[in-house]
Amino acid sequence: MLQVKNICCIGAGYVGGPTMAVIALKNPNIKVNVVDINSDRIAAWNTDDLPIYEPGLLDVVKQARGRNLFFNTDIETGIKEADMIFISVNTPTKTFGVGKGRAADLRFVELCARQIAQLSTTDKIVVEKSTLPVRTAQAVKTILSETGNGIKFQVLSNPEFLAEGTAIQDLMQPDRVLIGGDQTPEGLAAIEALTSVYASWVARERIIQTRLWSSELSKLTANAFLAQRISSINSISALCEVTGADVDEVAYAIGSDSRIGSKFLKSSVGFGGSCFQKDILNLVYLCEYFGLPEAAAYWEQVIILNDYQKRRFAMNIIQTLFNTVSGKKIAMLGWAFKKDTNDTRESAAIYVSDHLLNDMANVYVFDPKVPEKEMYDDLDYLGTRSKDENRKLLKVVNDPYEACKGAHAIAVITEWDEFKTYDWKRIYDGMMKPAFIFDGRNILDHKKLMEIGFKVKAIGKSY
Ligand code: UDX
Ligand code: ADP
Repeated sequence: MLQVKNICCIGAGYVGGPTMAVIALKNPNIKVNVVDINSDRIAAWNTDDLPIYEPGLLDVVKQARGRNLFFNTDIETGIKEADMIFISVNTPTKTFGVGKGRAADLRFVELCARQIAQLSTTDKIVVEKSTLPVRTAQAVKTILSETGNGIKFQVLSNPEFLAEGTAIQDLMQPDRVLIGGDQTPEGLAAIEALTSVYASWVARERIIQTRLWSSELSKLTANAFLAQRISSINSISALCEVTGADVDEVAYAIGSDSRIGSKFLKSSVGFGGSCFQKDILNLVYLCEYFGLPEAAAYWEQVIILNDYQKRRFAMNIIQTLFNTVSGKKIAMLGWAFKKDTNDTRESAAIYVSDHLLNDMANVYVFDPKVPEKEMYDDLDYLGTRSKDENRKLLKVVNDPYEACKGAHAIAVITEWDEFKTYDWKRIYDGMMKPAFIFDGRNILDHKKLMEIGFKVKAIGKSY
């Protein structure tokens, strides 16, 4: 059997970094090289101040780093030495041209494939780790087969199912590991080689082996199904607010049906993150591409509902504050797309603040892990207004009490645990009256807040 001895992972991001750290920890005999073009990022991976925040990650990295886990910018050597290469680069949604706003931009993946083709002097297994639209492996294969130097490549799809904030836990105890490959003797051997890497700590029956396309499509489908549940419950949250039902009670009642199940039914200000929106748009694009407009429209609705939820939350703030927030201070607690991560990609905070800024609000943001620069980059990227205006209207502070002082309203966007521990009486005393709080995550004790004097508005609640 093919024994993997040297792994190279191209891309040291939220997926590549944690995944390789755990693979290295669990396979001390395999040398794992994580390479990236971003030298700042690589430098940070070699310190104790890692470029991404993830509970438990530093501990894992420290155990393996320097032993069999290495981070560097020498992509060339990394590729040459490896017998297995993971492609873990970013695949953002295209912002221009054919498939704009929907299809995945594969130029980074394509570049990696070309580099691998150019530099390889021995046979290699190439593993797609980035989320990729179905049939990308074909493109990767085509590029790799054109080298003309007789080197053989096997392409595998091994989608990542880890969620940010729980990445280490998800990697250590995965529900399943999915490996897709060609159903030829060489393809099956490659699948086995990767299976044995995971089998160091994952039970064999949890490692699912499929053909290449099934694996790629399963990743998009898994995320589409998860996001669909959130949009479904969020559509009901709107109904709850106007009827007097309580969305948490509804979620609990329906989630108790084992056929539905209790997970992913937490109503919120809208889902964010690097996967859900991108993957669904990808699915929509694929359906359209293959002439299936009804299927495309079906999945697109999940996104439409999510945009509606973010807009609805912002509009509720504006309407409640007597139809104008112009010149009013609004405190925003949380900028990350969920707790326990410093990732802000597609975070609801970006869109909610954009709506509020359109109404000339003065937004003061506090997030325990997201740096100021990231917040301004996110806003500037939207292109709604000039950089100067963004900096004039939105301020970033590193103290939650300062963010709330003199504010007319507080908007809770991320479910950070520490928000629950604040001295809410002190916050209330320092605010303009009436003092409103909009809980976009339903994490606070609303009864207690109302006793203090707050006017509470929350997702799916009608008080
Ligand atoms: C997701 C998938 O869960 C993971 O399997 C895949 O590999 C990558 O995409 P991630 O984006 O890291 O992971 O986070 P996830 O926990 O799925 O949350 C996504 C968004 O949905 C967050 O904004 C979260 O706050 C929101 N969410 C989640 C809800 O609003 N309600 C829920 O019940 C669950
Ligand atoms: P993900 O969440 O998918 O891990 P990230 O954006 O966090 O996405 O990480 C992707 C990483 O891939 C980035 O650090 C980026 O610099 C790196 N990258 C992109 N293209 C290349 C390339 N051609 N060679 C090496 N690294 C690359």
